[in-house]
Amino acid sequence: MKKYRRYRAEFLGYDIDKLKLIGMGHEGKVYLLANDRVLKVFYKEDSCKKQIEILIKAQNSRFFPTVYAFDNRSIIMSFVYGSTLSYYLRQNNINKHISLELCKLIDEFKRLQFTRLDMRLGHIFLQPDESIKVIDPRDSFKKKVPYPTSMLRGLQKSGELMEFFRYIQNDYPHYYKYWMKMMAKAKC
Ligand SMILES: Nc1ncnc2c1ncn2[C@@H]1O[C@H](COP(=O)(O)OP(=O)(O)O)[C@@H](O)[C@H]1O
Ligand SMILES: [Mg+2]
Repeated sequence: MKKYRRYRAEFLGYDIDKLKLIGMGHEGKVYLLANDRVLKVFYKEDSCKKQIEILIKAQNSRFFPTVYAFDNRSIIMSFVYGSTLSYYLRQNNINKHISLELCKLIDEFKRLQFTRLDMRLGHIFLQPDESIKVIDPRDSFKKKVPYPTSMLRGLQKSGELMEFFRYIQNDYPHYYKYWMKMMAKAKC
């Protein structure tokens, strides 16, 4: 007698039981493919659709993975190398280059007309060439977050917030003033 799987195992032509699982979160699981690609399989169609909408709008941006294919439950996208900033900053101090990259990322979110101008450090990858990329954007056009609350909180937790502000002061004086003010307010 034939055995049937109780769950769907094939997505975009791949049998996930044969792939290496490299990550998982609240919305799905991520598997490694050949050619520097990954397959993200979502638990719910709705969250997949929402993520595709955002990633498609961000395809002309260097800060986001490239999308190669998708269906109602899964996305094939480029593999993002490097480590997350939350991990990196446990071993290393922030530097000027990374600090400016973070400001450029927020500028990019504005250019893409995101209303959520924030990304947590666990979703920001520092690549081997020191440029950054983000994964797993959510509610980018839905939530209204005018300054990068969780990014700055993450830097604070790592003990790097004041260094970060020092590095961006000359090149991004408007962010420097606004974000410093908001972080000081949040403390009260
Ligand atoms: N494009 C990618 N390249 C490399 N690793 C990835 C990629 N997308 C996701 N991952 C890994 O898989 C984990 C879970 O992916 P994520 O998109 O955050 O899922 P969820 O939406 O469930 O939170 C991430 O924390 C990361 O380690
Ligand atoms: Mg996630």
